Amino acid sequence: MEIITDIATLRTRLQREPSIALVPTMGNLHQGHLSLVRIAQQHAACTVVSIFVNRLQFAPHEDFDHYPRTHADDCQLLEKLAVDIVFLPDEKTLYPVSQEFQLLLPPLADTLEGAFRPGFFRGVATVVLKLFNIVQPQLAVFGKKDYQQLHIVQKMVQQLNLPVEIMAAETVRSADGLALSSRNSYLSEAERQQASDLFRTLHHIKQTIAQGNRDFRALEQSARSNLASHGWQVDYIALQQRETLLPAQVGDTDLVILAAARLGQTRLIDNLEILIQEPAINTMERISNPSSRQAV
Ligand code: PAJ
Repeated sequence: MEIITDIATLRTRLQREPSIALVPTMGNLHQGHLSLVRIAQQHAACTVVSIFVNRLQFAPHEDFDHYPRTHADDCQLLEKLAVDIVFLPDEKTLYPVSQEFQLLLPPLADTLEGAFRPGFFRGVATVVLKLFNIVQPQLAVFGKKDYQQLHIVQKMVQQLNLPVEIMAAETVRSADGLALSSRNSYLSEAERQQASDLFRTLHHIKQTIAQGNRDFRALEQSARSNLASHGWQVDYIALQQRETLLPAQVGDTDLVILAAARLGQTRLIDNLEILIQEPAINTMERISNPSSRQAV
C-alpha cells in the first residue's frame, strides 16, 4: 500500500492504472468505511482511499479541531485490506490558496442537514469535486449513512456531467442498530446505551407505515416528541420521497425517513428507506375477471 500526500505524485502514479475507484473519507475509519472500500475493490483495478478532514464543510462552531484524526490506525486498517493507495493530503495541498471558487448548490442543500449546517453541502460538494478532478476515478463509493450527501453528490455528477459512476453502500450498524460513525466516539457510556433509540425510532415509523398508517406528518411529530421525552434534542425527523428528498405525500411509495438529533454534545444522523408495497390490485384484471378481487 502506498501513502501519497501530494497531487503530482498521485497523478503520475495513477497514470498506469486501467480503472480507479475512489473512497473519500475524513478518516477515523470504522467498518462502515471499510465496507465502502470492499465495494470499490470489487469494481476497479486500483482503489484510492482519501483521508482529509475538510475544513470547508465545518461551520465555525462545529468540531473541526476535535474531529478524531487517527491516521496511523487508519492506514493499518487499510493495509490489512490491501488497499492500493491512501491519499493523505494536508490542508495546504488541497487548499493552497483560499478556496474562492465553490459550487452553487440547489435549494435542497439548504434543507434537512443543510438547514442545520449552513454551507455544509457546498463544502462537501467542493471537496468531492476537487478529489474527483485530482484522482479522476471511474467509480466512487459513498455510504447511505449520509443519505442527503449521497443524493447531492449523485445530482452533482449528473448535472455537471462528471465522468464518474457513484455507487451507494448500505449503512453498517452495530448489533443494537446504531449506525457506525466517527462521532460515536464522543458519546459517554450512558449515552452510547441510549444512542440506538434513534434507529429504533426510525424502525418504529417504518413498522407503523407497514401497518397502513399514512399520516406522515403525525408520525414525524410523535417520533420527535418521543425522542425529546427521552432527553434527545431533535433537529429533524422527516419522511421524504427517496427520489427527490422532498416531503412524502400520501400515495408516495418510495420513501426515506431522515433524522438528526443530539444526545448531550453529540449530534447523530441516521435514515431508513421504506418501500410501501400497496396491495397488488390489478384493476384491468379485476374488471375482466371480477372473481380475482377475492385473491387480493
Ligand atoms: P466520512 O464521514 O468519513 O464518511 C466517508 C464515507 O463513509 C461517506 O460516504 C459515508 O457515508 C460513509 N459512511 C460513514 N459511516 C458509514 C456507515 N456506518 N455505513 C456505511 N457507510 C458509512 O462523509 C464524509 O466523510 C465527508 O463528507 C466526505 C464525503 C469525505 C467529504 O469530505
